[in-house]
Amino acid sequence: MRLIFPPSPERDGLLPGPGRDLAAAGRLTPARAAEPGVAGLIDAIAGIYRYPASDGPWVRANMVQSADGAVAVDGRSGGLSGPADRLVFSVLRSLADVIVVGGSTARAERYGRIRRHEVWPSLRTGRDPVPPIAVLSRRVDLEPDGRLLAGWPAATGDRGPARTIVLTTGDAPADRLAAAQAVAEVVVAGRHEITAKAAVSALAALGHRRILLEGGPGLLGQFIAEDLIDELCLTISPLLEGGRAGRISAAPGSGSENGPHRPASTATGLALAALLEDDGFLLARYLRQTG
Ligand SMILES: NC(=O)c1ccc[n+]([C@@H]2O[C@H](COP(=O)([O-])OP(=O)(O)OC[C@H]3O[C@@H](n4cnc5c(N)ncnc54)[C@H](OP(=O)(O)O)[C@@H]3O)[C@@H](O)[C@H]2O)c1
Repeated sequence: MRLIFPPSPERDGLLPGPGRDLAAAGRLTPARAAEPGVAGLIDAIAGIYRYPASDGPWVRANMVQSADGAVAVDGRSGGLSGPADRLVFSVLRSLADVIVVGGSTARAERYGRIRRHEVWPSLRTGRDPVPPIAVLSRRVDLEPDGRLLAGWPAATGDRGPARTIVLTTGDAPADRLAAAQAVAEVVVAGRHEITAKAAVSALAALGHRRILLEGGPGLLGQFIAEDLIDELCLTISPLLEGGRAGRISAAPGSGSENGPHRPASTATGLALAALLEDDGFLLARYLRQTG
């Protein structure tokens, strides 16, 4: 993996240790944290993605897309990913206080609570060992005994301490709400709708300032519409999807696929803060342009 921007003359931007050849290193997970060179690589990546010092909440979105702009292959994002994307994904999760997803993504991507072996322990010093997942859902169509709310079955390992947060509305079905309340932290953050602003405030009230938004497009579109995205981490996968998948954000009211309603564009300027390359994958870190 190479750091292309900002330019670093040192070793042509090559990241240290197994970061030089991630494809050969295979799946580099926190389970391999003690292997030679891995700590230096994780420090280097965490340095590139360090959250800025800020007293208020900071919303970082992390998405992956194909070279032709698709957000999924056959309805899921896994087909777009690669070794570098998976590694940065795990580092971003490790740096976050909370990971936020929409209900559709939680279902499509089969989200579960984060387990200890999925985050880098060196990046969690002084904090809970794992960040919680917060899911925005009106319908609360989430299995109360599934791995997102109840946790992973004991047989598959560590359940982790972080209870899942369900951000929902006063309109949520009462029976589903009660079932979720028995196992998760449920916050009613709006009457019929949760605005992105209300979601951020609710998470900040729970002590979560470094917010990692993992999508999907509907949720990201809502945060963009409310001008609440501070940062976008975007992986461009060397692949042409060529199908009907939508793009990484969908404006509220338009549906995830490019729907019939075409709301006016909002244009938020971004500044490139970092660009990494690995095996044809480009990993960009953009910050909201200020001033
Ligand atoms: N490429 C990537 O990086 C990436 C990342 C994430 C997801 N994806 C893909 O994106 C697709 C899913 O995205 P999506 O756009 O359809 O859905 P989404 O953004 O994940 O979730 C939309 C859902 O979130 C809940 N929600 C959204 N706004 C809300 C509000 N204001 N108040 C209360 N609840 C709210 C609702 O959940 P309920 O239906 O539960 O009420 C809604 O159906 C999947 O195919 C997934 O694989 C790709």
